[in-house]
Amino acid sequence: MCGIVGYIGDKDAYPILINGLKRLEYRGYDSAGIAIIGDKTKIFKKKGKVNDLDMLVKDNDMSGHIGIGHTRWATHGEPNDTNAHPHTSENEKFTVIHNGIIENYARLKDRLEARGYSFKSNTDTEVLANLIEYIYIKANGEIDAEQAIRLALSKVIGAYGIVVIAQDEPDKLIAARKGSPLVIGIGEGEYYIASDATPIIEYTDSVIYLNNDNVAIIKKDQLTLKTIDNDKLEPSIQKLTMDIGSIEKNGYKHFMLKEIFEQPRSILDTFRGRVAADLSEIRLGGLHNSMPQLTNAKRILIIACGTSWHAGLVGEYLIETFARIPVEVEYGSEFRYRKPIIYKDDVVLAISQSGETADTLAAINLAKEAGATVLGICNVVGSSIPRETDAGVYTHAGPEIGVASTKAFTAQVTVLTMIAFILGKEKGFIKDNDYKNLIKYLVNIPDKIKEILELDNQIKDIAKLYQNATNFLYLGRGYLFPVALEGALKLKEISYIHAEGYPAAEMKHGPIALIDKNMPVVIVATKDKSYDKIVSNIQEVKARNGIVIAVVTKGDTIIKKMADHVLEVPETNEALAPLLTVIPLQLLSYHIAVMRGCDVDQPRNLAKSVTVE
Ligand code: G6P
Repeated sequence: MCGIVGYIGDKDAYPILINGLKRLEYRGYDSAGIAIIGDKTKIFKKKGKVNDLDMLVKDNDMSGHIGIGHTRWATHGEPNDTNAHPHTSENEKFTVIHNGIIENYARLKDRLEARGYSFKSNTDTEVLANLIEYIYIKANGEIDAEQAIRLALSKVIGAYGIVVIAQDEPDKLIAARKGSPLVIGIGEGEYYIASDATPIIEYTDSVIYLNNDNVAIIKKDQLTLKTIDNDKLEPSIQKLTMDIGSIEKNGYKHFMLKEIFEQPRSILDTFRGRVAADLSEIRLGGLHNSMPQLTNAKRILIIACGTSWHAGLVGEYLIETFARIPVEVEYGSEFRYRKPIIYKDDVVLAISQSGETADTLAAINLAKEAGATVLGICNVVGSSIPRETDAGVYTHAGPEIGVASTKAFTAQVTVLTMIAFILGKEKGFIKDNDYKNLIKYLVNIPDKIKEILELDNQIKDIAKLYQNATNFLYLGRGYLFPVALEGALKLKEISYIHAEGYPAAEMKHGPIALIDKNMPVVIVATKDKSYDKIVSNIQEVKARNGIVIAVVTKGDTIIKKMADHVLEVPETNEALAPLLTVIPLQLLSYHIAVMRGCDVDQPRNLAKSVTVE
């Protein structure tokens, strides 16, 4: 959460910073701010979105070739102009932008107050700015800005990605990382800094990912990398493979809609090069060396948050069905704090779109300490989770900018499907011929999604009817239960309508009490082995005058007679049905949110990359 950008070079910094902030806005949009070094450091900050900041600075002189910018997701202190970053120390010696949380900020603040410091904001970041300054001034010229920053950081508990401007050393930016990501882009006589590569890719594809406890001292033609303890490091330069088109809207009204419509392509990219042309084999190169641990695992623990957790649930059904390995699916936040039992022969699969989710990362570290094999399924290349895990698989869905996850979910499910099939084959539960058939179902998914996307107008009509509902219930069984959870999450995230996902049979243990003539119930009911059971659940809803919107297999005549609306998806193997049935639910939530005038790509209070616990 929170997006950070920085620039140092010969170009005008302002356009680079403001565009960078727009690219990072998905990380938080409570306020935005910018500082540019000119004759003096000019700072502008404002509650609201990056555009509001852009309007604020419009008529000001923003010239300068070095600067930093920040877009905030509020943790300490409400979203307002004062709490917006950058934060400047009391004597204006240091200006700081920060992503993360300084956990011992209250204690540090007390000590600084006792030494005469006063604070304008409620943020932990201002405490850090003043701590750096206090150390710097107290040293009375004995140390430089970098040393003061390193010393201050050694007193900090928590997570940070920071970029600092020092008034006495205006020819440099100093960046440091612990927990929160930072990437440095290398240009010619210039450097870019950002929370992820999206603000950088249009200028350079050479980047350095900072590791935990790294400090970078960046002048326009020189970069020095060291540890917080002052040990020099050799930067490892990597090449970005992302292309600029993938982070633009390409004519779609919202990123979310673009990302929903991209799914035939993104799923293809997930299995491209991994499935043999004759469909006889699936190869996941990243897992090759971990296959002995995986096939011999006594148990697989899947750890994730949010939508990725829903993908994990689909993974549980897939792996237990095909590979007969027990699977437990855990929220990172619960797992890390509840003294979980972890065995050395457990395999932990951490799933994350961003690769930065703090709770998932912490759970990974716990599992590593316990000696388990830890594998990652991530979308963002070079992010923290792939770097912390023993091995893993990239989903290759491409950058996902809409805060509500869509194509990342289907890419995660695709990877989990491949893992389940590989393990099932290895362990002898899937016979050669069945294996080929299953793979065939998988490779046909993109074309089937193209068909489903043609339901868009029909879904829009349904959205029109129920856009003002106050509650929705989503039901599914088996593989389709996690889809119901995901459908409900999509709706509440972006339309602010209360929605609950439930296993269809559990409805009668509670939610059935909610059903009346105003209650739309979305039932995911494609043909599988529990079809007859879910038909009964539909009857139960109709008997109480509920409104049924059913996602069914093409040609279904039974449910058509009972439901108020049916959305038909092509037939597939039941194990692959989540990849198809989730698409109409994504579109339904999208259209309802648009009709309600909600900010679909940047829903209130949410952020895409949750780097705080
Ligand atoms: C946030 C996002 C969700 C995402 C979740 C987990 O809540 O808004 O879309 O599913 O974090 O994020 P991850 O990057 O670990 O998948």
